[in-house]
Parts: sequence; structure tokens; C-alpha cells
Amino acid sequence: MAKTILLTGGAGYIGSHTYVELKAAGYDVVIIDNFSNSRRDVADRLAQITDGPVKIHEGDVLDKSFLASVFAQQEFDAVIHFAAKKAVGESVEKPLDYFETNCTGFSNLLMAMRDAGVFRVVFSSTATVYGEPQSLPYTEDHRLAPVSPYAQSKVTCETLLRQLKESDDRWSYGVLRYFNPAGAHDSALIGEDPNDIPNNLMPYIAKVATGELPHLNVFGDDYDTPDGTGVRDYIHVVDLARGHVQSVAKLIDEDATHVLNLGTGTGYSVFDMLRSYEKACGETLPFKIAPRRPGDIDCFYADPASARDYLGFEAQRGLDDMCQTSWNWVSRLRNS
Ligand code: WQD
Repeated sequence: MAKTILLTGGAGYIGSHTYVELKAAGYDVVIIDNFSNSRRDVADRLAQITDGPVKIHEGDVLDKSFLASVFAQQEFDAVIHFAAKKAVGESVEKPLDYFETNCTGFSNLLMAMRDAGVFRVVFSSTATVYGEPQSLPYTEDHRLAPVSPYAQSKVTCETLLRQLKESDDRWSYGVLRYFNPAGAHDSALIGEDPNDIPNNLMPYIAKVATGELPHLNVFGDDYDTPDGTGVRDYIHVVDLARGHVQSVAKLIDEDATHVLNLGTGTGYSVFDMLRSYEKACGETLPFKIAPRRPGDIDCFYADPASARDYLGFEAQRGLDDMCQTSWNWVSRLRNS
């Protein structure tokens, strides 16, 4: 009998790629999503990739009766929670919205799970919980120093999970601290599809490559890095999705709680990505040096050893693959 997983926010960028990998691994999967940062037609494209119907309930984690109705309809072996707001800059402007969606929404979900007798959850966290690096690469025991309301909301949820398990040992959870997700599915049918002007580097470069934006603004070229631009640990979204499959399997097979970095251990600069994207799209991409973005730090990247040792997870795909799959996706999207 196939195990059944509930994906909250499963129509989104990382959720949709995780849906595909879960189906490929033989799970039954149900999605809930309010489509606030995704498109309804993702269901058709997921059906095309996975060659079968996609079950999506439209609704919000802030709606307790909606959550109760989902859990009343069928049993789930575990939940993977993606439904959250994730823009650092926006969180500084709207801390209350971020607390409500990311913290209250998550506690609503946990209460609905408890009431339905479902006690396994994989939680989407982020490397920005570490704040200014005291040492690099970031290991999971690096102190937590969230700066933005977004990062604080993730620390709050991680703490809630720890305290919940201390109060009731029936719970097991996987906290996955993402580094910088990038790239798209090989089919070019799903990928990052931001509603407005992207905050993140790769989707911004993608819109320069398609001509939707005039040039890339390089936020500072005077950082303490080899070429002066910011260095980050970009991880292919398909690798990231596979990490979620390994995490949820660990919970189902062993109820083994874990807190892990999901990164590659390799840092790339803004110029590294720009050059790689130029190779992918076959064009020279214009850029301008702009002032540093408030809150940005020079460089961070993961120590990926714990995920390797504990889950057997290792990222397989490099920067060129991230840029090529992103380009294939955005150029198909533009022509569709
Ligand atoms: C990467 C580098 C910028 C845009 C954020 C969140 C993190 C996670 C990933 C949610 C930096 C530079 C960027 C641009 C640029 N999100 N840059 N021009 O800031 O490392 O991480 O997104 O989980 O939580 O903090 O990613 O892609 O915004 O920036 O020069 O137009 O690219 O300065 O050095 P970041 P990013």
C-alpha cells in the first residue's frame, strides 16, 4: 500500500518539484495551496510530467475548517510543509503578515495534524536562520541569529517543533535549511515563476535573458570575495526536492527527527552565475554595478556533511545545469 503525503504549498516552486519526485518514488500525494504565489495550471503540467491526475485542494493554512476538512477526507502518513511567505525584503515591510502566515499558519497545520493523529512533518526552513556567519561553511550547530522577520518566523517554527516533540514524543520532524534554490525541471514544464519583479538572483537574470528586464543590477562588487560580488551556495531545485523525499522516508521508516542543511557546499558569485547563464541562453547579458542591498552578506555556503551522513543526500547538479534548466523553462514559458 503506497504511503500518502500531504504537501502544503505544493503548487509552488519547490513544492511542485517535490511533488514530481515523491510520485517518482511511489508515494501518493495530495496538494493544498491558496495559489497566492503559484498558478492553477500547474496541476495540468504536473499531471503531464507524472502521467496521472493531480489532487489539489484550494485553501489556506489560515483556514482551520479547511484544514480539518482535508484531514477528514483521507489518512496521511506525513506532511511536508511549504506554504509560507519567503521574501526577506517584504518581511521587513510586513512583519505581521509574515508572522501570521508562517507561524500561525504552521501552528494551525500542526493542530489539524494532531487532531487527525498525523505526527510526522518535514518543515521548509532556510540558511538565513544562521545570520552573519561566525564561521563558514555553516554547520547545523552554528548559532541562530535571524535578522529579518522572515528568518525569525522560521526560527520560531523550528523552536515550536522542538518544544512540541518535548511535550509529546509521538511527533517526529525533519527541519531542512535550504541554501539558495535555483533551476527548473528537465521537462521545462515547471520552474520558478515569480508574480512580480524577482528579488532573487537567478529569476532576475532569467528575466534579463528573456528581455523582460533591461539589465541585472549587481548589488555591490566590493565584497570580500574573489571577484567582489556576493557568493552563495546555489542548489538545484530537483536536488532539493530529492532531499525532501529522503527526509520524509526517514520519518516514515524510522520516526527519526533531524535538522539538516540542504546545500552543495560550493559557493558561486553573482558574476559566476551571470557567465553561466550567458552560456545557457547564448547571449551576452547586460549588467550595472549597483549599491549593496541592505542586509546582504559577503558570502555563505553549507557544510553538507550531515545530510549526506544522515540521509545519504548529496546534490548532483551544478551551476551550469541550474542555468540551463532555468533558461529552458523561461524560454518555453515565454513562448507558451
Ligand atoms: C543572491 C546574491 C545578492 C539579486 C534569499 C533569502 C533566503 C532564500 C534565498 C528563501 C546576493 C545578489 C541578487 C539581484 C544581485 N529565500 N543579487 N542582484 O539573498 O542569498 O537569499 O533568497 O528561503 O532566505 O535570504 O538570495 O538570490 O536574493 O541573492 O546582485 O538582482 O545575488 O546581493 O549576493 P539571498 P538572492
